[in-house]
Amino acid sequence: MRSLHRAAFATDPAADPATGAVRAESDVPEARLVDELREDVAFLPHLSLVAVDRDEVVGHVIATRAWLEPLRTPVLGLGPLGVRPDRQGGGIGTVLVHALLAVAEAAGEGVVALLGAPSYYRRTGFRPSTDLGVTPSDPAWGKHFQARRSAGPPVEGTFRYAAPFDRT
Ligand SMILES: CC(C)(COP(=O)(O)OP(=O)(O)OC[C@H]1O[C@@H](n2cnc3c(N)ncnc32)[C@H](O)[C@@H]1OP(=O)(O)O)[C@@H](O)C(=O)NCCC(=O)NCCS
Repeated sequence: MRSLHRAAFATDPAADPATGAVRAESDVPEARLVDELREDVAFLPHLSLVAVDRDEVVGHVIATRAWLEPLRTPVLGLGPLGVRPDRQGGGIGTVLVHALLAVAEAAGEGVVALLGAPSYYRRTGFRPSTDLGVTPSDPAWGKHFQARRSAGPPVEGTFRYAAPFDRT
């Protein structure tokens, strides 16, 4: 999984908005984050999904336990999502997000939140998180912090990712 995310995020043109420069594979915090999430108490095995072509993993998405403060309402934090560079643009990322949302809903999860490109996640039903009563823990995230509610009562609170995100 680490090598997949290293390759995927090294291609991310949003890595350095100032220059548009891509990152070296050795400088990809998302790869380390995935490793740490898989070892953390927030890890949920049914919400770590892969796309596989023969023996090779070509896409991976993960959602982990997150919380809304101050009531400590359980929600999910989605990410990282990565698709192998040579397979990007073929629909794998979108399908992985749909699949993850379906599993989350089947597991009774009401709200999924994420930090990402609004133009990408809008197509899977995400909206600015504040529309749903979810306040980003960092105001600088602005409209890039999005949420989606599929079930359950309305929620309200300030979002807290799993601990490994604080170290990224
Ligand atoms: C972002 C990513 C997961 C998308 O997966 P994918 O399988 O390539 O995407 P899909 O084929 O499902 O969708 C392609 C569409 O998403 C758009 N898209 C891809 N990356 C995007 C981004 N960062 N921001 C906005 N739109 C994006 C493409 O322009 C394309 O649009 P179109 O359908 O209108 O032509 C993949 O490109 C990737 O791994 N990128 C590097 C890692 C990354 O940035 N991950 C986090 C995203 S917040």
